[in-house]
Amino acid sequence: MRIALIGYGQMGREVERAALEAGFQVGPIFTSRTNPEGRGLTAEALREVDVCVDFSTPQAVVTNIQRVAEARKPMVVGTTGWYDRWDDVRPVVERAEIGFVYGPNFCLGIHVLFRLVAYGARLFRHLSDFDPYVVEWHHRRKADHPSGTALRLGRILLEHLEQKTHLVTRLEGRIPPEGISVASVRAGAHPGTHLVGFDAPFETLEITHTVRHRRAFALGALAAARFVKDRRGIFSFEEVVDHFLQGGGI
Ligand SMILES: NC(=O)c1ccc[n+]([C@@H]2O[C@H](COP(=O)([O-])OP(=O)(O)OC[C@H]3O[C@@H](n4cnc5c(N)ncnc54)[C@H](OP(=O)(O)O)[C@@H]3O)[C@@H](O)[C@H]2O)c1
Repeated sequence: MRIALIGYGQMGREVERAALEAGFQVGPIFTSRTNPEGRGLTAEALREVDVCVDFSTPQAVVTNIQRVAEARKPMVVGTTGWYDRWDDVRPVVERAEIGFVYGPNFCLGIHVLFRLVAYGARLFRHLSDFDPYVVEWHHRRKADHPSGTALRLGRILLEHLEQKTHLVTRLEGRIPPEGISVASVRAGAHPGTHLVGFDAPFETLEITHTVRHRRAFALGALAAARFVKDRRGIFSFEEVVDHFLQGGGI
């Protein structure tokens, strides 16, 4: 199976290393220099390619998607920061009838954490002494806070805990009893930790997911590439993980 890489920064290079180790063929590779305004992504350039994998930039990705759809190739998009353009992208992908996987977090373990937290929150529903919270750590370069994943974890807690009504991402004085604290740490080079805890007066339960290396995202992208190779339609990475969790091979 041959993948084309669109974007050759930290993630593009990591996907390349993981793909070669896993026996994929890799190339062509598109950079901002070889693909200005998506112009490198022609049907001819992608002729031998089975799946295109995009880890580029929020500015470049929408045009890239349009060009890959025109070339009728399946695509995995790990790039974030473009979901406000979803209404422009969806019809293009639908019209081209290609397979398309997208998601802000390609770590398989994080998607299991989402499910564990939903289950845990349901168990704690009638144990109101256990107060839930979310903490996330990331490298200093990360622009947004809290992370999208931390907000997602917070929303899962809200969904299952009636007594909680909102997330508190910025502390100003005391936190109200119906708020859930979502806290961020930004320091150093840490690739990402998310922790969900439930604290009672005399005991604490915590579940933590840690990314030790960006290879975790790269392996998720490759799993998505295998998944989408012979499929049509639009899939969130979460749906891809559902398929794996139900025993569909990775
Ligand atoms: N889904 C996930 O699990 C996951 C995990 C990690 C990161 N991400 C996301 O993936 C994206 C990339 O992350 P990164 O850490 O690899 O960033 P990065 O190191 O900055 O790499 C981005 C690359 O895209 C290239 N690029 C810019 N315009 C392009 C174009 N028109 N065609 C092809 N390539 C182009 C850039 O090239 P130049 O340097 O030449 O401009 C750069 O090499 C970000 O949006 C990040 O948030 C997602």
